[in-house]
Amino acid sequence: MSALSFTVQRRQDPASDERRAEILANPGFGVHFTDHMVTATWTKDGGWADGRVSAYGPIQLMPSAAVLHYAQEIFEGMKAYRHADGSVWTFRPEANAARMQRSARRLALPELGEEDFVASLKALVEVDQAWVPEADGSEASLYLRPFMYASEAFLGVRPANVVTYSVIASPAGPYFSGGLKPVTLWISQHYARAGVGGTGSAKCGGNYASSLAGQLEGIENGCDQAVFLDSASQEYIEELGGMNLFFVTKDGQLVTPELTGSILEGITRSSILELAKDEGLEPVERRIPIQEWKDGVASGDILEIFACGTAAVVTPVGELRWEGGTAPAVGGAEGGEVTRSIRSRLLDIQYGRAEDSRGWLTRLA
Ligand code: PLP
Ligand code: COI
Repeated sequence: MSALSFTVQRRQDPASDERRAEILANPGFGVHFTDHMVTATWTKDGGWADGRVSAYGPIQLMPSAAVLHYAQEIFEGMKAYRHADGSVWTFRPEANAARMQRSARRLALPELGEEDFVASLKALVEVDQAWVPEADGSEASLYLRPFMYASEAFLGVRPANVVTYSVIASPAGPYFSGGLKPVTLWISQHYARAGVGGTGSAKCGGNYASSLAGQLEGIENGCDQAVFLDSASQEYIEELGGMNLFFVTKDGQLVTPELTGSILEGITRSSILELAKDEGLEPVERRIPIQEWKDGVASGDILEIFACGTAAVVTPVGELRWEGGTAPAVGGAEGGEVTRSIRSRLLDIQYGRAEDSRGWLTRLA
């Protein structure tokens, strides 16, 4: 049952058609935002209320707002895709709603019901649908960013009694500007993003803050992204700062690190595990020693490696580097055959070019 309704106050000064067209012609990632945003407020006594769609703009927050001090914040990431008939769809929103509820429980934030979550996306996309890029095969989409934070003005350390939920939207081209060029990864040995009993499996801002030093170290060493290991033994592969990892093996397996509590359960990851069977591959979730990567690319046991997530879709992974060593890229200059095939399979479903036999799509507008 939906508890929230969203009133709409359209802004009087939306972007002109020309300005919007200019942005949509070259959206980048996360730099431009649509005309409106969603907000709703939760109070301990009253629950969720005051759902609205209003002008995108600065938010009023007291300097003492708990989120600014104790990082009680969670978010989601998903996309709206325009199909050839002009309709607008999103991918497995119920999975994002459920993950946001799990994140909320871990960060002691209130849960938002699945119906309210989906209704909030519909409310925003309905008003800002002109911002969803055309279905021209270019893989452009409208990135949707639901988030929730402790907005109560209080410096005591306890779960906030006032919380704000919001959704903003940003037209998006490819997350990595190099096209399907493989990304080079750096093994982060000094910095972990998450630990046992920590918040690694929640989608909270703090995890991204703690990934930045490792990411920076990677960039200083000529890499695009850092790969994080389990913090206890430093032996097992976990994930990247914003993507899960997959390995295609010589014996027809599609292997990804199992969920240990410190890895984010990506919706792209679980979708690819299902699509593996269509690809004739055996999906495997298990612990993967980082040594297996180094040995596997040398011996030929690992044929392809890719990273996946909503923003990055499926991105080939190239060379692996660490302090004192490198392991060569596999899979070729534009990603291997399986990487490209899984990528197209997923995009074809999302853009309505292939049958949605699993019921993964929800219409937004
Ligand atoms: N891992 C992390 C740390 C992420 O931030 C993301 C992105 O959302 C993913 C994995 C992939 O998750 P999803 O496929 O749900 O976007
Ligand atoms: C996503 O893929 O949606 C993410 O959240 C990754 C990154 C942009 C934080």
